[in-house]
Amino acid sequence: MKNQIKTQGRQIIATAMVLALFGLAGGLLVGVIYEATAEQVAENQRRAMLANLNQLLQTDRYDNDLLASQITLPADERLGQKQASPAYIARLHDEVTAVIFSVIAPDGYSGAIKLLVCINADGTLNGVRVVQHRETPGLGDLIETARSKWIFSFDGKSLDNPDAKGWKVKRDGGVFDQFTGATITPRAVVKAVHQCLLYFDRNKKQWQVASSK
Ligand SMILES: Cc1cc2nc3c(=O)[nH]c(=O)nc-3n(C[C@H](O)[C@H](O)[C@H](O)COP(=O)(O)O)c2cc1C
Repeated sequence: MKNQIKTQGRQIIATAMVLALFGLAGGLLVGVIYEATAEQVAENQRRAMLANLNQLLQTDRYDNDLLASQITLPADERLGQKQASPAYIARLHDEVTAVIFSVIAPDGYSGAIKLLVCINADGTLNGVRVVQHRETPGLGDLIETARSKWIFSFDGKSLDNPDAKGWKVKRDGGVFDQFTGATITPRAVVKAVHQCLLYFDRNKKQWQVASSK
């Protein structure tokens, strides 16, 4: 009986040791794979961001390294950002040609809509793109370029064109189309882009400082 208990005890210890070894080996493997892929993941993210930026700004509009031009802006309500956010400064022959902001429209139908907003040095919009959202397929997702041309309606617009009253969807007396049965999403995006234009305008000096670097 004593021997049987001893044998069982040894078996339990051996099993526990084998399990512990497997756990250790698994942990090590995950660590090694993470190390091996971290660089690739960072490079993929870099490329994806550059592709997003290049959708907004033609490559002949800048000759600097756009990703390296990133500055960090403090949290600001006009950008919809509760935390510091990045902006990218495009330059051609050392002159600022455009600034690309990361903007959040907080009041989409299903929450935050993340945008990139590209404003030319003269204050006109070069373009707007949605980079992340949870709006309803077939209704709110018409803000995507793959689903409709609506987002291009910002191209060339500025703080004066239209005036402040026009920076609304048509339903609210502005110039921007809403979608059939879905006004909340476009209303949120129009408001966020307008706020970003105001932010750009109020902080003009900052872009001039950035240009002299
Ligand atoms: C299931 C469901 C999903 C909806 N998704 C959206 C959406 O993604 N974006 C949006 O603006 N409205 C969405 N709506 C409609 C809104 O509730 C709201 O009625 C509409 O935005 C108001 O626009 P309207 O005044 O043109 O009807 C959705 C409604 C339902 C029932």
